[in-house]
Amino acid sequence: MAISILVLYYSQSGQLGQILDNLTSTLGDKLEITTIEYKPVEEFSFPWTSQTFFDAMPESVLEIPVPLQPIEVPQKPYDLVILGYQPWFLSPSIPTSSFLQSDFAKVLDGKPVLTVLGTRNMWLNAQEKVKARLLALNARLVGSIVLADTNHNLISLLTIIRWNFTGRKEASKWLPEAGVQTADIKNAARFGSIIRNAVESGNWEGLQPALLAAGAVELKPTLIILEKRGIKQFRKFARYIREKGERGNPDRLPRVLLFKRLLLTGIFVLSPISGFTAKMASLFRQKSFRKQVNYLKELTMRRI
Ligand SMILES: Cc1cc2nc3c(=O)[nH]c(=O)nc-3n(C[C@H](O)[C@H](O)[C@H](O)COP(=O)(O)O)c2cc1C
Repeated sequence: MAISILVLYYSQSGQLGQILDNLTSTLGDKLEITTIEYKPVEEFSFPWTSQTFFDAMPESVLEIPVPLQPIEVPQKPYDLVILGYQPWFLSPSIPTSSFLQSDFAKVLDGKPVLTVLGTRNMWLNAQEKVKARLLALNARLVGSIVLADTNHNLISLLTIIRWNFTGRKEASKWLPEAGVQTADIKNAARFGSIIRNAVESGNWEGLQPALLAAGAVELKPTLIILEKRGIKQFRKFARYIREKGERGNPDRLPRVLLFKRLLLTGIFVLSPISGFTAKMASLFRQKSFRKQVNYLKELTMRRI
């Protein structure tokens, strides 16, 4: 029987769709590939307005699901499921957490799963959340590929703001292209043969080390600290905003606006300071950070 792979994903701008197309293009003709995109019933409009963007934070962080459009997954004994997703506000995107909590996700039961992330650069908490969902679904995480924007953190913030609010991903006069760089999107093709070897041999233990050797996950220790600080504040604000109602409720807008102002101040005014203290902490506690980096590149489910 032909080896069969199921690719499940969501992509708002199409970036993750391109990454997955390139990755699966080198899996080889012998493998049967079924690709399905899950989408919310009510789509998130792109480009975003400032209001809709920041208003999506609480439900992203608290993983509150929205209804999804029905999907038909052909009944096959899939040998591997590739789950493509992206973080929103340091958490799995709302479409992804909705999918993982829906009945559609039962297709993952008992399956080896490879996650493919297309991110800015802050994906650690999101991946921990996805790992926990996979565990609950009785799926086995066998590999993980993270494609991120490799520009400086502040540059990537400026370009992602431009992209999300104007739709412009390409470089502009002063700023580079936003998101995962075009060359890296194309280079995702290099993972195809590694994945094929693992599916054909059934050697799942060897998959992540082979992917890591091909540069599947790069991680800066300072981002671990910045992300930990960020998610703590996001959780508090998410609950505070939700006290005033659901996404889209005008009653909560003053709180959403406050969150937006504090976040932007935190990023653009305080971030050079917090970036410096994070760098110092990672230098003084190198051993502990090496451990954390290794853990985050591996697949074990454990608290960080
Ligand atoms: C609402 C929103 C929040 C985001 N938050 C994060 C984040 O916390 N960390 C990160 O690395 N990228 C973040 N991104 C970038 C996305 O993870 C993703 O890379 C980008 O939106 C392109 O994905 P697409 O293929 O769905 O278009 C965010 C994007 C959106 C739209």
